[in-house]
Amino acid sequence: MYTSFSRQSLILPTISWLVMKKLFLIACIVMQQNLGWSQDASQLQNVGSNAPKLTATNIDEVLAAMTLEEKAQMLVGGGHHSFVGSGAMMGHQEKLVAGAAGITVAIPRLGIPATVLCDGPAGVHIDATRKGTDQTFYATGFPIGTCLACTWNTELVEEVGRAIGNETLEYGCDVILGPGLNIHRNPLCGRNFEYYSEDPFVTGAIGAACVKGIQSQGVGVSIKHFAVNSQEGDRTRVSENVSQRALREIYLRGFERVVRESNPWTIMSSYNKINGVYAMGNSGLLTDVLRNDWGYKGIVMTDWIGKRHDLPTEQEVNAGNDLLMPGYGEQAKDIIGAVKSGRLDIKDVNRNVRRMLEYIVKTPRFRGYQFSNHPDTKTHAAITRQSSTEGMVLLKNEGLLATALPFSSDVKTVALFGVNSYDFFSGGLGSGCVNVPYVIDMVTGLKNNGISTTPALTEIYRDYVTFARKKLRIDKNPEMWFLDQGQPKLDEIDITERCIQHELKEADAAIITIGRQAGEGIDRAIEGEFNLSQMERSLLTRVSNAFHAAGKPVVVVINSGSVIETASWRDYADAILVAWQPGQEGGNSVADVLTGRQNPSGKLTMTWPIAATDHPSTANFPQEPDYYNLSDKMYGQRMKGVNYTNHEEDIYVGYRYFDSFGHRVAYPFGYGLSYTVFSYENAKIKKLKNEDIEVSVTVKNTGKRAGKEIVQVYVSAPSTPSMEKPAKELKAFAKTRNLQPGESQTLTMTIARRDLASFDEAKSQWLADAGRYDFQIGASSADIRCHVSAEVKAYAEPVSSVLQLQSKLNVLRRSSKK
Ligand code: BGC
Repeated sequence: MYTSFSRQSLILPTISWLVMKKLFLIACIVMQQNLGWSQDASQLQNVGSNAPKLTATNIDEVLAAMTLEEKAQMLVGGGHHSFVGSGAMMGHQEKLVAGAAGITVAIPRLGIPATVLCDGPAGVHIDATRKGTDQTFYATGFPIGTCLACTWNTELVEEVGRAIGNETLEYGCDVILGPGLNIHRNPLCGRNFEYYSEDPFVTGAIGAACVKGIQSQGVGVSIKHFAVNSQEGDRTRVSENVSQRALREIYLRGFERVVRESNPWTIMSSYNKINGVYAMGNSGLLTDVLRNDWGYKGIVMTDWIGKRHDLPTEQEVNAGNDLLMPGYGEQAKDIIGAVKSGRLDIKDVNRNVRRMLEYIVKTPRFRGYQFSNHPDTKTHAAITRQSSTEGMVLLKNEGLLATALPFSSDVKTVALFGVNSYDFFSGGLGSGCVNVPYVIDMVTGLKNNGISTTPALTEIYRDYVTFARKKLRIDKNPEMWFLDQGQPKLDEIDITERCIQHELKEADAAIITIGRQAGEGIDRAIEGEFNLSQMERSLLTRVSNAFHAAGKPVVVVINSGSVIETASWRDYADAILVAWQPGQEGGNSVADVLTGRQNPSGKLTMTWPIAATDHPSTANFPQEPDYYNLSDKMYGQRMKGVNYTNHEEDIYVGYRYFDSFGHRVAYPFGYGLSYTVFSYENAKIKKLKNEDIEVSVTVKNTGKRAGKEIVQVYVSAPSTPSMEKPAKELKAFAKTRNLQPGESQTLTMTIARRDLASFDEAKSQWLADAGRYDFQIGASSADIRCHVSAEVKAYAEPVSSVLQLQSKLNVLRRSSKK
């Protein structure tokens, strides 16, 4: 044997929240059954035999015919798929979709069907198998949100959105719960993989493209989690204490753009509080900002908490939360009681019910769409294979005589190290996972691209993965139900020196895959998760020393949904490719890039810091991943970062901080290499009649291979004494077509004048001061190729003054450098 197993036991993420959620859902079933809904329902069957049946044009008439009980039930979801009960209690006979996250209730006497909501965003999350049939219902595992965003290709994201929307439709769902638009405030957030970026501009642009694509198929999205759900630590209780300026400029801006540009059918309000008020009961957020300032017309649903004991149900309804999920009989009773006692105005109820009916008439279920349960998964697999290669980011590509990548034709056999080469992660854990039909691992992907792997090492790892997966199933106890919520991380194995020496003789190159898994309900730790483990570090250095001594290249593939530490070990690798969690075709996509069949064109949508603690937010981020096991006494102490999080970094999130404060990073925002090189020429700026700004630049492929380039436009605004500005902020981007060597393309990008504004808390307005603005056209935030400038007229746009801080924060400012 070449290996020694470091530990036989497998480390599993303790996603205690998910366990709590499951228990909660079970409790809901019992409570619904005990709360007398069925009695209400049977009474309702008899109300008015001439009742109108819902159509797209008689919503007012149906609303007028509804009893208070029916209205209350309309505003409360029908629960998890295992709650089929609530739909049936309303006389609903329709077959629901197994494994979907929830339903809205049916009211048959009024022709109102139940509608089905399934999880996303990386594909349709439903059960792959069902009782009583041999048919399977696997859904395509598309690239995770982060990977999609790193394509910076809105057309491609829209195409992926169309495929996701089509699967949503053909699997009988009406709404997919995604995309996730929270900001990568800190690299340790467990759900960053579902989100797009540390930057709200990228988030908004990619999010709007994804929503357009999905909704073009006649199904809806639920953009989530609105808002500031940028940590999993105590996410159901934490108060995100954040200034109005950071809220508007960083945390809400992406949502705003998606609402304005793509009209999402639904929005999911988040579990957390914002400045002391739960998002789901926050009228400042859900009515003043969302509807009054942004003009949103769709519905808001809560995240899946059910009844909260510290938030009155009527406050949620009143705040503009139309649908309470996953739904709980007691909540309907609360609504009825609150209306009867005068604590809730029936006008608020009617307003929300009307919005629910407006939503229902758009759904495929209402239209009577006959779904096939057979989406075109072959075509969708091809889309995922290709789209993920555009999101992969080449961090490093060096070598002794030539760059290590793409592999030269001399590389015929590789030694493939790292458990995730063989247990490749297609996506993350929790509600954001997809039950995929298969995942192409690196062995298969390389083989499909004409490269073989060394047999002995392949056998060792494959045997281990088979063993470890089985062990996981055997050890499974009721607490581990989340094993069905994605691929958990298996322990690495210790590879001996003798094994490495053996492999060296057989292989032309070494590939080491570093895998990271994360997901819902838990944030990542710095040690062993953000940083490499001792075993990984030892493997990397020993493989690197041995292969380099023999003049053979070493390539590291990062198979992770989030950022990891690279600065301390990158010198050991000739090339580093961030493959993210690229979907079910993962191994094929990675091999397409390694062999040069695809030229990588992804760029980072988040900074890769030297250390996790370099982010100013880390000081106020949960550092204790096991927070659900904290005693109440500890909660009583109001733990910083856990049950309250002070956004002291304020607007200085990601590159806005690193650039403005001159802090070195491992890889900057916007960075990514290609197998070719590009020159930027002829930068121009023009003011349009409406005062918007047009920037153009000609990009030329001056290298030897065809490739695509992403051009970014950053703006430095004049600072005013009252409002300091970050050194620069991204305000536009564009991607070229696939340019052949020597070919050029002129990219023209428009910057709306409104986008130059910052949020002025004193007057509650968007404000762009008059003055000369510098527009920096770059290949990354740290690689500015040309500058142009323009005189901009002042712009002011007053908005609602809401979401104030409840106590003063000691916020970071350049003017008072810490
Ligand atoms: C998650 C949501 C998800 C919902 C339904 C919640 O716990 O935060 O993202 O859509 O569950 O599964």
